[in-house]
Amino acid sequence: MTQDELKGLVGQAALQYVVPGEIIGVGTGSTVNKFIDALAAMKDRIAGAVSSSNASTARLEALGVRVFDANEVGEIGVYVDGADEIDGKGFMIKGGGAALTREKIVAAQSRRFVCIADESKLVPVLGRYPVPVEVIPMATQRIVRQFAALGGTAAVRLIDGVPLVTDNGQHILDVAGLEITDPLGFEREVNQWPGVVTVGVFAFQKAAVCLLGTAGGVRTLS
Ligand code: 5RP
Repeated sequence: MTQDELKGLVGQAALQYVVPGEIIGVGTGSTVNKFIDALAAMKDRIAGAVSSSNASTARLEALGVRVFDANEVGEIGVYVDGADEIDGKGFMIKGGGAALTREKIVAAQSRRFVCIADESKLVPVLGRYPVPVEVIPMATQRIVRQFAALGGTAAVRLIDGVPLVTDNGQHILDVAGLEITDPLGFEREVNQWPGVVTVGVFAFQKAAVCLLGTAGGVRTLS
């Protein structure tokens, strides 16, 4: 099976966690796009969605799903999103699609995070994938130096040679060379550096369930 087919498999499998009549939290990325496509089959049976990015909002609305602002709703039952890396405990690196801040906000508002990913995302220790960090631009170079002190190499994410601007109007640093053996401690520390909007380690908002697409079918880690 191709990676795209594995993403389709878990996107479809995540439908079992969608509770009819409820509002669902929806993440961002190519795997989530497969979930949104699958959601079309039951779009008339959900109350709507809270989305983590302008891209997912557009895709949901194109299907006819009502998208609510997070402030309009209370606790969300289930949040479905992908990951760039996930370990056996449900700790993740996210933000490859630059939506990490809103993803963490919707995850924090949700009771249960259901991660959907192909098997290439499962790792023993987080950090081979460069950690995305959303930053306020005036703090960029100081944060680069703070990561260097931890042994990481941070680079501003560019699109066509200019810094990518997130849905929140900020920039992304991608930090390579880190081995994150203590995801909770790492998230806690980096999140309090002035100028960091969100670090793309999801330890406090970890996945409760991971649906992993493998050649043998969907493997459920919980
Ligand atoms: C976006 C994310 C995505 O969930 C992550 O990058 C995985 O994306 P994909 O499903 O395309 O591999 O965190 O900010």
